[in-house]
Amino acid sequence: MSLYLEALTKHYQVGSERIVALWGVTLEIPSGEFVVILGPSGSGKTTLLNLIGGLEAADSGRIEVDGQDVTRLTEPDLMRYRRYKVGLVFQFFNLIPSLTALENVALAAQLVGAQARDPRQVLEWVGLGDKIDRYPGQLSGGQQQRVAIARALVKNPALVLGDEPTGSLDSHTGRDVLSLMYRLNREHGQMFAVVTHNAAISTIAHRVVHLRDGKIVDVQCNPNPANPADLEW
Ligand SMILES: Nc1ncnc2c1ncn2[C@@H]1O[C@H](COP(=O)(O)OP(=O)(O)OP(=O)(O)O)[C@@H](O)[C@H]1O
Ligand SMILES: [Mg+2]
Repeated sequence: MSLYLEALTKHYQVGSERIVALWGVTLEIPSGEFVVILGPSGSGKTTLLNLIGGLEAADSGRIEVDGQDVTRLTEPDLMRYRRYKVGLVFQFFNLIPSLTALENVALAAQLVGAQARDPRQVLEWVGLGDKIDRYPGQLSGGQQQRVAIARALVKNPALVLGDEPTGSLDSHTGRDVLSLMYRLNREHGQMFAVVTHNAAISTIAHRVVHLRDGKIVDVQCNPNPANPADLEW
């Protein structure tokens, strides 16, 4: 899938204060790319992912996915878009505490029916094959994060949006998860748009987008992205 953002704008109103979270964001991402979004805290990274993922509505602008404008979808079509096309890994993991790791992932799989991958296999991919029956409260932060990644990947979505998806992982586990994302991107053409502070992730990306104060200030294209297996951590 391809993604085209045109003049996206979003503000929040807090009492009398008007906060501009995104201002005139225009960006074209060809299909099959791995994109990294960088920027200081408060620069609009999460807001951008939320708009692309259809979780929040833009004030103005367009979000074209495969030529279709997501900002104009009816609520049922938007729900289908969120469910089938997008896999989200949030900054805060949002796991359901009363469900085990396997149940959390299986629930996401059920939502997409035949499109889903095998929940047990995806949990194995993220290194949690032996912890599938634990509840989120019985897992470390990094393990919970990997359940959240599995929950996004199990849907086999065309677009994976990650908000610091390796932020709670040690470097070894982070590299394994990154290698998994790299493989899915390269072998299955799934688009990844990932917010990170990890410089290593930027080196495997096709495109690095720098945000500041809600605006894109720089886009670097990388014709020869690194393989995570070759990186020094
Ligand atoms: N629900 C909200 N209500 C009011 N203001 C908000 C809301 N969400 C975000 N903002 C504001 O919008 C701006 C962009 O926030 P955003 O969460 O997108 O930043 P970010 O780049 O993800 O930051 P961080 O790296 O800290 O996660 C900030 O000024 C933030 O305070
Ligand atoms: Mg954020």
